[in-house]
Amino acid sequence: MSFIMQTVLLALGVFACMVSGQGLDSRLEKGGARVLAMKTIGNRMAVEDKDLTVLYNFYNVGDGIATDIRVESPDTFIDWPLKNGLSTGFQIPFIQPGENVTHALIYQLGKVGKTNTLNATDFTYKNGKKLVLSKTSAPGPVKVQSNAEYERLYTLQMRPWLLYGACSALIVVLPYLGFQSSSSKAKRA
Ligand SMILES: *[C@@H]1O[C@H](CO)[C@@H](O)[C@H](O)[C@H]1NC(C)=O
Ligand SMILES: *[C@@H]1O[C@H](CO)[C@@H](O)[C@H](O)[C@H]1NC(C)=O
Repeated sequence: MSFIMQTVLLALGVFACMVSGQGLDSRLEKGGARVLAMKTIGNRMAVEDKDLTVLYNFYNVGDGIATDIRVESPDTFIDWPLKNGLSTGFQIPFIQPGENVTHALIYQLGKVGKTNTLNATDFTYKNGKKLVLSKTSAPGPVKVQSNAEYERLYTLQMRPWLLYGACSALIVVLPYLGFQSSSSKAKRA
């Protein structure tokens, strides 16, 4: 095979890939709405008798509007009643392409040591007229900690920050003190 022939074939190959790539893109464009849902726990820790915030983040990664997003049976626990939100679920009217919408449910936690598992939750949305069924991610088990444990971990986490705060304060204050003493010396002179 001649060099020119090889070059032509290579160029044709690259061109074919570009064209099929474009074809793929336009196929994706016709996909419309596509909603991913991430369920996460908003709290740093689950603490006895405090709130547990469960966040549902819906992200429309498609290129069409998603409408009528519904969660009809969120988690319910015998011992952790819903404080904010309904056990019959919630609905979001629409999500534009590329947009996120977050919905929070708040539960009232009970006794120390109790563990409940947050599973994936079914949700539905409409892509044009089509009803789509999907599932959120699953945060997993949540164990209630004592208030004392919370305080201990919190101060442990705070310590580096306090140190950082003290150091940055020194960095700000030291030159200022130096300036003051030199300017007072200057005034005296
Ligand atoms: C999550 O799934 C587990 C195992 O099927 C179940 O025991 C638990 O009750 C579920 N959690 C909720 C909140 O429904
Ligand atoms: C929506 O959420 C996703 C995932 O958390 C993130 O990557 C993206 O940047 C967010 N988009 C906007 C517009 O906030």
